[in-house]
Amino acid sequence: MGRILERLDALYAISPTRVGGSPQEDAAHRLAAEWMAEAGLEVEVDSAGNTFGRRGGGNVWVGSHLDSVPDGGRFDGALGVVAGIEAAERSRGPLTVVAFRDEERGCAGSRACVAAGRLPEAYLELHIEQGPVLEQAGAPLGVVTAIFGQVQGEVVFAGRADHAGTTPIDRRADALVDAAEFVLRVRQAARPGTVATVGRLEVEPGATNVVPSRVSVSVDARASTSAELDALGERIGFEPLRRTEPVAMSDPPLAAFRAVVPGAPELVSGAGHDAAILAAAGAPCGMLFVRSLNDGISHSPRELSSEADVERGLTALVAALARIGG
Ligand code: HGY
Ligand code: MN
Ligand code: MN
Repeated sequence: MGRILERLDALYAISPTRVGGSPQEDAAHRLAAEWMAEAGLEVEVDSAGNTFGRRGGGNVWVGSHLDSVPDGGRFDGALGVVAGIEAAERSRGPLTVVAFRDEERGCAGSRACVAAGRLPEAYLELHIEQGPVLEQAGAPLGVVTAIFGQVQGEVVFAGRADHAGTTPIDRRADALVDAAEFVLRVRQAARPGTVATVGRLEVEPGATNVVPSRVSVSVDARASTSAELDALGERIGFEPLRRTEPVAMSDPPLAAFRAVVPGAPELVSGAGHDAAILAAAGAPCGMLFVRSLNDGISHSPRELSSEADVERGLTALVAALARIGG
C-alpha cells in the first residue's frame, strides 16, 4: 500500500469521528503538521487552528480539511490534505499546503482565512467525489465546474408536555406530530436537481410516556443556482441561519485541471467544500474529484476510492500545480 493510503489509515485510526474543535481533529492536525515538516515545509498554525505547510513563500494553496462527520469515511477531506503533502514531495516550486479546520459544520477554518483577508493566488483541492457519477461513467477522475449553494438552519416546534396515557388525542399539543409533517414538507420541496435533508431531530423531553413539548428540526437544502435556492427555501418555508451561494470554479486552476485530464467528465458538486468559501471571496479555485466506489456512498465508513484512482488523482494534481507555478 502506498504512503497516501497508509496516511489516510493513520488519520482514520485517530477516529472515524473527528468533529470540528474536538481532540480528534487536533490530533489529525498534529499528524499532518509532522508530515508537512517531513516534506520540508515550514509549518504554521493560524489563530483559527488551520495548519499551513509553506515552501518558498508560495501563495498557490493545495489542501482540504481533516475534520469529519460522525462515523465518517477515510477519504472526505483527508485525501486532499495528504495528497497536497505528497504533491509537495513530488514538486519543487513555491507552494502552500493547507489543512482547514471544521469544514463539516460550516467551513469555519476557511471562513476565518477570508475574514482575515488571507487568500491564495490560486487554490486546488483533490477530493473524493462522494457520489455515483464517475463510477457510472467509468471515469477515474472528474473536473468540478461549480459547487451547489446551500441554505441551512433549524426549525423549532413547540407543544405541551402531557401524560401519554391520560391526555385525550384531541387535547394534545404534540410538537412531534407537527415536526413530522414539516419533515415530509422538506422532502417534498426538493425538485430534480435540488436536494433537501433533515439530518437531526431533537425531541424533548424525550420520554416514551410524555407527549413531546419541543422538537428542533435541522434543514439542509441545496441547489445549483441562487434562484432555485430561493424557490427551494420558500417551498420549505423556513428562515435559514446560513446561506452559501452557488459558486463557479475558475482559471487558472480550472483550466489546469481540464488540461491535465483531457476528456474527463465535468460535474457540479452537490457537496460543499472549502473551495466554495475561497471562490466566493474571489480566489481562483479548482477541484478534481476522484471516483467514489460503492455506488458513491460517503459520510460513511463505506466511503471508498481505489489506490489506482488516488494515484491518478495525485499525478493530475502535481501536473496541474506545475502548470500554474505551484
Ligand atoms: O455537507 C457537505 O456538503 C460537506 O461534506 N461539508
Ligand atoms: Mn469534504
Ligand atoms: Mn463532508
